[in-house]
Amino acid sequence: MLKITFVPPSLPAQGALALTVATGRKLGSFGVKFDRKLGGVISRAMAGSSFKGDKAQTLSIVTPAKTRLARLVLVGIGKPKEAGEGILQQASGAAIAAFCGGKDTKAFFVVDEHEGLRLPGAEAAAHVAFGARLRSYRFDKYRTKLKPDQKPTLKTLAVASKETAAARRVYAALDKVADGVFLARDLVSEPANVLYPETMAARCASLKGTGLKVEILDEKQISKLGMGALLGVAQGSARPPRLVTLSWHGDPAAKDKRPIVFVGKGVTFDTGGISLKPPGGMEEMTTDMAGAAAVIGAMAALAGRKAKANVIGVVGLVENMPGGRAQRPGDIIASMSGQTIEVINTDAEGRLVLADAVWYAQAKLNPRCVIDIATLTGAVVIALGHEYAGLFSNDDILAKQLYEAGEAVEEPLWRFPMKDAFDKSLDSSLADVKNVASGRDAGSIMGAQFIKRFVKKGTPWAHLDIAGVRSVSKDKPTCPKGASAFGVRLFDRFVKEVYESK
Ligand code: BES
Ligand code: MN
Ligand code: ZN
Repeated sequence: MLKITFVPPSLPAQGALALTVATGRKLGSFGVKFDRKLGGVISRAMAGSSFKGDKAQTLSIVTPAKTRLARLVLVGIGKPKEAGEGILQQASGAAIAAFCGGKDTKAFFVVDEHEGLRLPGAEAAAHVAFGARLRSYRFDKYRTKLKPDQKPTLKTLAVASKETAAARRVYAALDKVADGVFLARDLVSEPANVLYPETMAARCASLKGTGLKVEILDEKQISKLGMGALLGVAQGSARPPRLVTLSWHGDPAAKDKRPIVFVGKGVTFDTGGISLKPPGGMEEMTTDMAGAAAVIGAMAALAGRKAKANVIGVVGLVENMPGGRAQRPGDIIASMSGQTIEVINTDAEGRLVLADAVWYAQAKLNPRCVIDIATLTGAVVIALGHEYAGLFSNDDILAKQLYEAGEAVEEPLWRFPMKDAFDKSLDSSLADVKNVASGRDAGSIMGAQFIKRFVKKGTPWAHLDIAGVRSVSKDKPTCPKGASAFGVRLFDRFVKEVYESK
């Protein structure tokens, strides 16, 4: 694990150093002095390369003359007045990747004094530290043959700051958010033979020490509640389902005691059931619990940083398998809400799990709002690719708050329309509702419209479809290839902005 420290600004005599540069190859006041001392090595290196100081661009200068440094990494921040927290996180994430080419165990990061830099000193240092930690994530658990040169050597990053105490204070909370991100990435990365409803619930139980209250319902208790939709999905699997509630009561004196409730889809493996998926790429369905992982990670983050808010996470954990006991297309099941559902396609299972979990949240938890998060549809990937998650809501204020939280943490959302005319296509001729419409039109909206049938009038509700953003296919500045934990930072920011800053 990468250790992060904050140190007063000074020049390291040896080792690795990262230094920020603004667009137009503009060095800050420290860089100008340093370049002069080195006889212009830095400006010559920049002039001889395509490095311009643009966002998250890096240039490594190996063993620069007149120093004993092993490596100097120049890292771009774009225009200083636009360099907010996200850009500084990306800059340090990119620097961490550049350090991986070397053998250093310790590196320094200097955010130079650029004129008009958007973020003030201590905050800048803290977000540099946060970005570095986010990028340092690895999931090597199952690689038994990693050679030493395949492992990063970097053990410590020292971030220079004139206000080390303030930087440490700001970072302390961000470090807890990173813990939540790492937890969610770990859960999403685990294969389905290791992580299934019972073991995923056990991981939730291990969070009790953080101050979270964790309640785990087993199959019998779920059945007693009448969750026929969730159970219908689970019945084809040898692995019994679980419903987990994680509660954080961080604001006992709140005027409005009602909690914010996050609900996550936790399908630990989605074969499609009897409506079996084709084999190509099916292994990716180990990540079909990314919504639940985001909820669990967010709850861990909120508890970790002792958020002054009352928040509950609910995750519905099931495995969707074909088999002699699996539900069939055409089956009619009774949901906890009392509504009957005709299951046309057993591969539209996430919405069945959410129907009961979202209803449970409203029936039992007296929420002020309910936000569900799910890898719900392939159609959202067709619509938005891997850059935005789909946002659906019955409440313009809630939608705006989520949108803004997403923008702030670079987990962007794009809102889709909802309308009664869409809803009509879900009417069943045999039951109250069917789980898919005929045809493939507006697939992601149909998923959202189905869930909305289980939202009570007056409950502010939003649905995030994260099928396209649950993982990244190549390294990004603050996220190595693999599970992204999309939603953890967004939920954390949403709670902070909307409920804690009052
Ligand atoms: N888990 C899938 C959605 C998914 C697809 C997630 C690709 C990540 C990547 C979901 O359960 C599903 O199978 N949805 C169906 C719905 C259809 C049957 C209406 C889909 O998108 O094909
Ligand atoms: Mn499915
Ligand atoms: Zn699924």
